[in-house]
Amino acid sequence: MRVYDVIEHKKNGRSLTNEMIDFFVRGVTDNSIPDYQISALLMAICINGMDRNEIFYFTEAMASSGRRNDLSAISHNVVDKHSSGGVGDKCTLIIGPIVSSLGIPFAKLSGKGLGHTGGTIDKLDSVKGLRTSLKYDEFVSQVQDIGIAISSQTGDLAPADKKLYAIRDVTATIDSIPLIAASIMSKKIASGAANILLDVKCGSGAFMKVPDKAFELAETMMDIGHMAGRNMTALVTDMDQPLGRNIGNSLEVIEACEVLNGKGPDDITELCVALSAGLLKLSGYRPKVSYADDARESINNGRAYNKFRDFIYAQGGAFEGSSLYPIFRNSSKYLFDIKAEESGYIFAIDSQSVGISALELGAGRKTQDDDPDHSVGIVMHRKAGERVTVGDRFMTLHYNLADIPEEAVRIARSSVKISVEKPVLKPMILKVFESDMT
Ligand code: URA
Repeated sequence: MRVYDVIEHKKNGRSLTNEMIDFFVRGVTDNSIPDYQISALLMAICINGMDRNEIFYFTEAMASSGRRNDLSAISHNVVDKHSSGGVGDKCTLIIGPIVSSLGIPFAKLSGKGLGHTGGTIDKLDSVKGLRTSLKYDEFVSQVQDIGIAISSQTGDLAPADKKLYAIRDVTATIDSIPLIAASIMSKKIASGAANILLDVKCGSGAFMKVPDKAFELAETMMDIGHMAGRNMTALVTDMDQPLGRNIGNSLEVIEACEVLNGKGPDDITELCVALSAGLLKLSGYRPKVSYADDARESINNGRAYNKFRDFIYAQGGAFEGSSLYPIFRNSSKYLFDIKAEESGYIFAIDSQSVGISALELGAGRKTQDDDPDHSVGIVMHRKAGERVTVGDRFMTLHYNLADIPEEAVRIARSSVKISVEKPVLKPMILKVFESDMT
């Protein structure tokens, strides 16, 4: 078989055969196919799409390109979750402790951020001493001991996806439903949990900008999960403005601690309660009151936060005295306030721009090899629908360079639209897809 023929086949709008998919994924994994041919096929898939069987087979082939875990050894009710990527999305740090404090084992292999979206591992790396690269045996025994572990995806988990993702990131082939679905689901299937919850983001900060596309992505991933024998739930959730108020690695850990203490912003608290309720239901948990009420109660009675502390200690982090927050590697040196030049309502916040501004401050990676500055980021003092008067600060940039990056300020300033008109906000949860478990 020649890669050329596989590319031509897809370029002509035809479905790839299982043999073609195996051949391609094998060649990506063993580096025998050059990047330019990989890119050509990715672009052809982006333009001509894939049918369900092709997506499923492609997902399975990527899941089998490396190690496949089986978490049923821990328990049948282990849960895993994945977000399709957003700005200010620190939900894993909140919902893991919530469900674990209610007796449901939470085992999550997470990724690093790329582009304007953040990654859980970068957030955890901001905590001094915290180990994010657990060996697989260590990961499993921590879930068995304390009911929660979050570690980075090892290089041997779906290595074909790792390579394809890096190429997609620089060839404008990220926002393709078959490619996103196969990428996310290959990692989830290889990670080995029987119960998977997906948070599919929709809006200005997400890869899917409009609801119809986000629903299609959610349904595609639900189908793949079912074809692979997994219990699935997907929530399509709003990403038209950053989630919560803090963007940037240590700032997001701080906000996660606040939510777990019942002191966090309403939007992210509401979303985390809904996501936790979805995970609890998927796992077979028997609610005392309701899934959502039990999740809320675990915040109110302090159990979720205590579980968070256990998790931080178990992976090598620490807290100073009675501080609510773990000890961080470093803190930012300077603050820069952005102030309103007119009065009115915050009408819209372009979350992708806020993510890019944080990236310009050094919070993320512009290339795979960059090292993020864990202490920098953005605090949003006002969110969409809230009022400002001239001179009010509505954003603070945290930074470390002697001169603030001009580009970060320009992008942050232009990300917020102020109007005399009050905006009508979308609900946080746009749609829920659940497996029929009857
Ligand atoms: N997250 C992933 O893991 N893969 C994608 O393609 C997009 C978001």
